[in-house]
Amino acid sequence: MTLPPKPKSRPDRVSLWQYMKLFRADILSAQPAKLYRAWMAEFKTPFFRSYLINDHSLIKRVLNERPDDFPKSDRIGAGLRPLLGNSVFLTNGDVWKRQRRIIDPAFEGGRLRDTFPAIWAAGEAAVARMAPHATNTPFEIEPETSHAAADVIFRTLFSIPIENEIASEVFDKFKSYQRTQPILNLAAFVPGPSWMPRFFRKDTKESATAIRKLITQLTQDRLDDIQSGNVPDDLATKIMTTADPETGEKFDVEEMVDQVAIFFLAGHETSASALAWTLYLLAMYPEWQDKIAEEAAEMTSEFSQLSTLKHTRDVFREALRLYPPVPMMVRETTRPETFRGRSVKPGAQVVVSPWHLHRQSRLWDNPDAFDPARWGTENGKTCQREAYLPFSAGPRVCTGAGFAMIEGVVLLAQLVRAYRFEIVEGRVPVPVAHLTVRSEDGIWLRFVPR
Ligand code: HEM
Repeated sequence: MTLPPKPKSRPDRVSLWQYMKLFRADILSAQPAKLYRAWMAEFKTPFFRSYLINDHSLIKRVLNERPDDFPKSDRIGAGLRPLLGNSVFLTNGDVWKRQRRIIDPAFEGGRLRDTFPAIWAAGEAAVARMAPHATNTPFEIEPETSHAAADVIFRTLFSIPIENEIASEVFDKFKSYQRTQPILNLAAFVPGPSWMPRFFRKDTKESATAIRKLITQLTQDRLDDIQSGNVPDDLATKIMTTADPETGEKFDVEEMVDQVAIFFLAGHETSASALAWTLYLLAMYPEWQDKIAEEAAEMTSEFSQLSTLKHTRDVFREALRLYPPVPMMVRETTRPETFRGRSVKPGAQVVVSPWHLHRQSRLWDNPDAFDPARWGTENGKTCQREAYLPFSAGPRVCTGAGFAMIEGVVLLAQLVRAYRFEIVEGRVPVPVAHLTVRSEDGIWLRFVPR
C-alpha cells in the first residue's frame, strides 16, 4: 500500500552552516533520518546546546513532572511577540499560572458542550461555501479549511461569523502577517545569543498593530456589553467574567486582547492544517472515507451524537499522529540536568518533537503507515499514552485540546457526509513546517457531492 507523504531526510553529516540553510528552508527535511529511531540527539551551536528528546521518561520529566524547571525560552516568542504580547502561549511562571486559572474553566468539558452549536454552524457554512467547487476539478483545500477554522473561532469566541466585518478583516490581516513573518519560531532554534536584539520588518509590525486594534475593538465592546448585562454566553464572556480564584483579578482589556490573539493564531492555524491533511489522507484511503460517510449519514446536530463518530475520531487522531500541526516544541534548562547519562548545562535548549516521536520506529508498529485501526491495538494504546503528543502534555497542554477534537471530528463528518474527496494525480503534498505543518505547494483535491 502506498504510504502517506513524508519529507526526505538530510544526510547524517552536514556542516553547521549547511544545517542552518536547510533549517531555514524547512525544519522537517533539515533533520537526519536517524532521529526517527534515536532516543535523544544533541546539536552543538556556537551559542548553546540543543537536545532533541525522543524518550518517554525524559519528555515526562520536562512536560509533566518538573515543567517549572523547563520554561519556554524568550527566543521562542521573538517572532510572535508583536502580535501576541503577553499571551498565555508566551508567558512563564506566576503570570502564566494566573492566566491559565482564568482561561481553563472556559474550556472544561461541560462548558465545551455550549460551543457545539457554533461549531456545527461553522461546519454547515463550510459545506455551503464549498458547493460551487464540487465539480471534480483540482481545488486547493487548505485555504478553505483555514476559512472554516477561523469561522469556528469567531463564532465560539465572540458569537460572530467570519463574514462579520471585523472578523473578516482580522482573518485577512492575519494572512498578510504570516506572509511578512515567516514563522515557526525560527528565532528559537537558530543559533544566536539570547540577548541579541530581534528586528521586525516594518510591515510585520504594522499588520500586528492593525490586528490588535481590531481585536481591541471587539474586546472593548464585549466589556461594555458585560457591564450592561446583555451578552451571549460564549467563550469571550466566560473568560472575561472569570476571576482568578487566588487573587480575584480578571483580565483587563489589554490582557484579554493578548489571549484573543493567541486563540485566533493557535486555534485556527492548527485546526486548518489538521483538517486539510485528514481530507488528503481520506482521499488516499477511500475505504476509510466511506466508513466516515456511513457513520456521518446518521449524525444529527445533537452534542450527544458525537460519541457515535468513532471512525471519524480514529481517523482524525491518526492524521494528528502523521501530521502533528505543531511539529516541535522548545523549552530551556534552568539548572544542571542529566539527560540519558549526559550532563546538560543551564540555558540549553530542549526540543520535544511530536513529529519524530509520532514516527519513532522503535515504539510504533508501522510508524509511517496510515492505520486508524491501530488505536484499538495494544501497541496503539501504549503509544497513545507514551508517544503521542499532538497537544503537548502536562500543565502546559494545549488549552484547546478538547475543543479541537470536537471541532475536527464534527467538521470532518459534515464535509465527508456532503462530498466525496479524491486525490489529484501528480500533486503529492510535501509536508514542510512553517508555523504549523503545511504542504509546500498546497494540498489539492477534487471533490463532488455524495
Ligand atoms: C488540532 C488543533 C490543535 C493542535 C494540534 C494544538 C496543539 C498545541 C500544542 C502542541 C501546544 C503546546 C505548544 C508548546 O508548548 O510550545 C498548544 C498550546 C496552546 N493551544 Fe493549541 N492546538 C490546537 C488547537 C487549539 C485551539 C482550538 C485553541 C483555542 C481555541 C488552542 C489554544 C492553545 C493555547 C492558548 C496554547 C498555549 C497554552 C500554554 O502555553 O499554556 N489550540 N496547542
